[in-house]
Amino acid sequence: MTAWILGLADLLELSPDIRLSGLALPTSRTSMDVLVHAPTSWLGQSMVTGMSHKRRTEFLAGRLCAFHSLSEMGVDAEFPLPVQDRLPIWPPGILGSISHCASVAVAMAAPATRFHAVGIDVEMLIDAEIAQDIRHSVGRDRELECLERNIPCRARSLTLLFSAKEALYKALYPFSRQYKDFHAAEIVSCQANALVLRLTEDWCGSWRGGACVEVRYAWMDREVLTAVCIPRVSSIHSRITLAAITQPEV
Ligand SMILES: CC(C)(COP(=O)(O)OP(=O)(O)OC[C@H]1O[C@@H](n2cnc3c(N)ncnc32)[C@H](O)[C@@H]1OP(=O)(O)O)[C@@H](O)C(=O)NCCC(=O)NCCS
Repeated sequence: MTAWILGLADLLELSPDIRLSGLALPTSRTSMDVLVHAPTSWLGQSMVTGMSHKRRTEFLAGRLCAFHSLSEMGVDAEFPLPVQDRLPIWPPGILGSISHCASVAVAMAAPATRFHAVGIDVEMLIDAEIAQDIRHSVGRDRELECLERNIPCRARSLTLLFSAKEALYKALYPFSRQYKDFHAAEIVSCQANALVLRLTEDWCGSWRGGACVEVRYAWMDREVLTAVCIPRVSSIHSRITLAAITQPEV
């Protein structure tokens, strides 16, 4: 059965201002399983009817999570959220991010008064052989060595690095509006539930090379979940524990 996953925000130790919803998607079932959770008005949308089964399942699951997170903040929104440049446009005053893989969909929503940027990613554990093949595209040897001091399994460390960089990319894309490959940021430290990525080049006027961003992470069953939640400057000053984060010039 498709089922809500409870406690994800606590798992990542996110601020209580952030709403994070997740759906477990049984991979052996068809998209009908997700459709029963979706309001009937969603299903006639041309955007949805033109999709393949897999895409429709993941898209609807992501949107269900988004609507769940928004309703927990007391915000109503119309399906399917307008999209520009593949980016969902969130209701005024809300920042959000969606991610889905074959087994899990997640969506995070946060108040724009408290947060500057958010990005979320969920990734299924990459197969060990594939991890070996793609490792040079995802990071430098020293990055994997840094991760493997905490996570002594190449497949897991590479999946985490991949996911963390995608979460960062999603958080900063609304500012940079340009593609950045996986060498545009590098890991500088890793702890049990968080790591820090540093931009290796300028991403845009407000996000320069050298800026550091914390990425929180947690392992689920076969997936890793990563989240970037960058507080606004005033919030940073009141949270000295986030000293690793370099706020851009905005
Ligand atoms: C955009 C990208 C990050 C999406 O990741 P993905 O693993 O393919 O897909 P996910 O399920 O995690 O996320 C997809 C959702 O993210 C959102 N999204 C799409 N493009 C986005 C973007 N440029 N920025 C932020 N969010 C985006 C959408 O909501 C999308 O879901 P939807 O189409 O159902 O609405 C990925 O396709 C990509 O281009 N990665 C390469 C760039 C990168 O990560 N560089 C690393 C720099 S260090």
